[in-house]
This record gives sequence, structure tokens and C-alpha cells, in this order.
Amino acid sequence: MKIDGTHYRTIWVANDGWSVEIIDQTKLPHEFAVAPLRSAEDAARAIKDMLVRGAPLIGATAAYGLCMALREDASDENLDRTYDMLLATRPTAVNLKWSLDAMRDAVRSAGGNARVEAAYAEAARLCDEDVETCRKIGENGLRIVRGIAEAKPGETVNILTHCNAGWLACVDWGTALAPIYMAHDAGLLVHVWVDETRPRNQGASLTAFELGRHGVPHTIVPDNAGGHLMQHGLVDMCIVGTDRTTSTGDVANKIGTYLKALAADANGVPFYVALPHTTIDWTLKDGVREIEIEQRSPREVTHMTGRTDKGDIVTVEISAPGSAAVNYGFDVTPARFVTGLITERGVAPASREGLLSLYPEKKAGNKNA
Ligand code: MRU
Repeated sequence: MKIDGTHYRTIWVANDGWSVEIIDQTKLPHEFAVAPLRSAEDAARAIKDMLVRGAPLIGATAAYGLCMALREDASDENLDRTYDMLLATRPTAVNLKWSLDAMRDAVRSAGGNARVEAAYAEAARLCDEDVETCRKIGENGLRIVRGIAEAKPGETVNILTHCNAGWLACVDWGTALAPIYMAHDAGLLVHVWVDETRPRNQGASLTAFELGRHGVPHTIVPDNAGGHLMQHGLVDMCIVGTDRTTSTGDVANKIGTYLKALAADANGVPFYVALPHTTIDWTLKDGVREIEIEQRSPREVTHMTGRTDKGDIVTVEISAPGSAAVNYGFDVTPARFVTGLITERGVAPASREGLLSLYPEKKAGNKNA
């Protein structure tokens, strides 16, 4: 994606050839700041404190965290210790484990300097693969948007999204937003309803920022507005991302996604989930019972950060002092509320059969399962 004419990914190796740079997402939309990561501990902190966030980008950052750890000490002990440290940063997005497993497999047989080189090569490959995967998700999702556009010629296709599943959540392109960028670039009339996404406001701060920089028409709405919009025919489709999707098509995504899926179901609005294969957890069958839901600090609920009219960034308390607050980061939308899964291999029903039709190598008995 381009920011003021310069193409950026969300993560890259710095000019020194080993440290890593990221876009500090805690500063957006008010400041576009690049932050250096110089160790695995820096990478872990960036993930935990959400300087980087979004399932694919968490995985990419962990991969480079492992590279920097091995550069300091390429031993098996350090590999395992760093793997565990990075894995513990955030529990819900399965891309983190997928990426760390891929890294460990790629470097295990190499020793010393060769191990460090293998690690950086694998991290770069994972990032490139993520970009290509998201591009294909965009192409596959574009066909759906085009279908809706053709059914209402000359009119705008209104798409509702939740949280941020755009290029800031991935290495480039995004998952849920990739079809929207492609539709806009193809000249289709699209408009996006952006859920603000309390408590951290990824919609208002990040999705709106991205869409605005790309010139995609959009409107920020409070999280509670979706049902009303759908009831009044103002939403043609929903597209969201996911942090972990079970082998049966249950979808964990940012808290509030489930309510949007219920409203979409009640109002006959198609509800699509866009995801790369790295977000599928083939070991799970029941998302509601089996997916670990991250709980974050209640302070994210009781306080908000923003910019004053004078331009100062301030954090203010918005609740009655002393009231308890709870902060579940994600919820699970059962597969029956999902119209389709948009992946890099195509679109399928949210079910075991649907996923296996796209990923036949995962069928029981297949040596790659
Ligand atoms: O807590 P976050 O900001 O990491 O949550 C991000 C989401 O819920 C995204 O929708 C999800 O990771 C998909 S990103 C392509």
C-alpha cells in the first residue's frame, strides 16, 4: 500500500540487514511512525502491546523475532526458549503458532551462521507468501462484490466490516479489505461501513485510515449501528477477517463480530469471512468451546486515547471511577451464520466439507493432513 506516494509493507528488514522496522499502529491515525525492533524481546513487546496486530502480521513479527534471537545465540535452547516466549504473547490468532512452527521447521537442521541465514530467508518467504495469499483472497472476493454490483447496476455496493483486516493487519493488501481495494480499483462503486470497534477502535483508527489513504469511500459507525443499517437495507454484504477458524468453519474474530453475524442472518445480508490458510486451526472442531479468547486489560475499556483539537494526544477516563470492566478481545461466530469463507484458493461454505474441498491435502489419510 502507498502512504503519501511511498509503497510500504507493515514490516521489513532495516538497512543494517538484520534489525526490523514496523509501522507503530498504536500511533495511528494521528501519526505515521516507524518503530525499530532489535531483539526477540522487542518483537514480543510489539505484539503484546499491539504496535503490530492482526493475525497475519502477528505471525510475521514473531518470525522476525526468532531471526533476531538466533542472530544472538543460534543454539537449540535459545530457539525453543524464544519460540515459547513469542507464542505466549497473544493467544487467539493461530497464525502466530503456524508461523513459529514454520520457522522452527526451516531452521532445525541448520547450525550456526547457516541457521541465522535460513531463519531470515524463511521469514522473508513467509512475508512474501502472505502478500501473494492476500492478493488472491482479494481476487476471489472481488468476484462476489462484482456479482452484487451487477445485480444493482449504477448503484453503490455497501459493505460493512468490523475491526481491521486490511493491509495493516497483514504484510500488505489485507484479507477482508483486499476484495474492497480490488473492487474500488476495478471501478466498481463501493462504500464501506466501518465499525469503530471498541474498545481499541481498530475500525475508526486503522480501517478508516487505510481506506481513506486509498480513496475508498467509507463512513465510521458506532459498533451498535450495524443492526439498524441492515434492517433498513443499507448493507449489501459484510466481510470480516478472522484470527482462528476451526476445521468446521467456526470463526473467531474481534469481539462484536458475532453480533454482526446475528444481525446479518436476521436481515438476509450475506456475511463473508476472508482468511488465509494460516488462520485455519485443523485441530479444532468447536470454536465456541475450544478457541482460547484473549482477555486484555480493563483499562482499555475504561479509558480512551485520542487527539484534542489542539493536537495533543491524551488518554481520558470515560467510566465511573471504581466500576469494574471486562475486556474479551474476541468472540466466535458459529459456522451456520457464515455465508462463505473467502480464501486464497477460492470461496467455500463454512463447514468441514467446504474447507476440505479447498484443502484436500487435509483429508484424513492424506500424508500431509
Ligand atoms: O486485536 P487485533 O487488532 O489483533 O484483532 C484483529 C482482528 O480481529 C482481525 O480481524 C483479524 O486478525 C484478521 S486480520 C487479517
